[in-house]
Amino acid sequence: MPENWKHDWESAVMPTYGTPAVELVSGHGARVTDSEGREYIDLLAGIAVNALGHAHPAIVEAVSRQIATLGHTSNIHAHPRVVELARSLQDLISPDAQVFFSNSGAEANEAAFKIARLTGRGRVLAAEHGFHGRTMGSLALTGQPDKRAPFEPLPAGVEFYPYGDIAALRALVEQDGTASDTAAIFLESIQGETGVVPAPEGFLTEVRALCDEHGILMVVDEVQAGMGRTGRWFGYQVEDVLPDIVTLAKGLGGGLPIGACVAATPAAQLLSKGQHGSTFGGNPVACAAGSAVIDTIRTDGLLDHVRATEALVRDDLGSCDAVAGIRGRGLMLGVVLREPRPGLADRALEAGLLLNQPAPDVLRLVPPLTITDTDVRESLETLKELLS
Ligand SMILES: Cc1ncc(COP(=O)(O)O)c(C=O)c1O
Repeated sequence: MPENWKHDWESAVMPTYGTPAVELVSGHGARVTDSEGREYIDLLAGIAVNALGHAHPAIVEAVSRQIATLGHTSNIHAHPRVVELARSLQDLISPDAQVFFSNSGAEANEAAFKIARLTGRGRVLAAEHGFHGRTMGSLALTGQPDKRAPFEPLPAGVEFYPYGDIAALRALVEQDGTASDTAAIFLESIQGETGVVPAPEGFLTEVRALCDEHGILMVVDEVQAGMGRTGRWFGYQVEDVLPDIVTLAKGLGGGLPIGACVAATPAAQLLSKGQHGSTFGGNPVACAAGSAVIDTIRTDGLLDHVRATEALVRDDLGSCDAVAGIRGRGLMLGVVLREPRPGLADRALEAGLLLNQPAPDVLRLVPPLTITDTDVRESLETLKELLS
């Protein structure tokens, strides 16, 4: 029975994800193969994770070497890989920053949330429709009532503002003279899960100014938009701003589970010894993968490649009749359809493309940053056929 794995999945795995349509067994570059031997072009990359694609030699080599040398230590003992990766993140974000390593994006945001609590101020503001993860703290920051409702009560003190609306955000900050009680403003530079919605031009700068005015921490969740995905190291760099806290995961480990909460001083000093931790956070193998990702993005000029690939996609798909527009930047693109087309991602799968559809009228393209022009052109041909 070729589909026996589905039965096994349903009997052994909780139903949180539903039953997947395919079982993937191997991958190379931007191509993956399922257990029936069918090949797909991967435009989803494990939801914006496999920055270097599948089985990239730099990751294989770094991870293999590290697991054969020292696989885990906990944070009771140091190891060189954690400091190497933290130093690289300082180089990319700010020499003034310090890093707490976690295992996922939700946990990176948990750390940021705990730092916000330690400012002594009561309120945290987060964006409507934003997504920050599924743990109780990161869910409390997630502006999607349907995801939150079953799990209430969530940690208190979070209020939501309309994403991109600086006047509304300022009014919320300053209402009843409570500005001095706002600890942090959370936002994504591009809202990913909600359908690839970038912050309107100028918004990041205005949030920075508002935070400076009132001593509020600006926390930018770069879990999805970070690590080169937008053609810059971080999505917020589209404007001349430096957040107080940047949270990372997904592409950082190139497929290994790792997240990071990168905070500027003095916020970085708020979590004192014993106030936070993670057994696996900063694991040597995951950190080795993180350093391999950063080195490869740099040495292979992937930021330029991402921008050139974005232009290719925009030129080609932008003129397609069924497409109303393309949102996003670099290789974090939302193809907005003129009409809702529920089930299009399933048809794409049948046609040999992995992608997802965050809304019935949006296709999300987040392929490996390394995807070749040949794979891009082939997938665009298939997509256009599906759309026509
Ligand atoms: C912007 C953003 N923040 C946080 C998360 C949660 O990350 P994780 O699933 O690694 O916990 C996601 C996941 O999609 C995300 O897109």
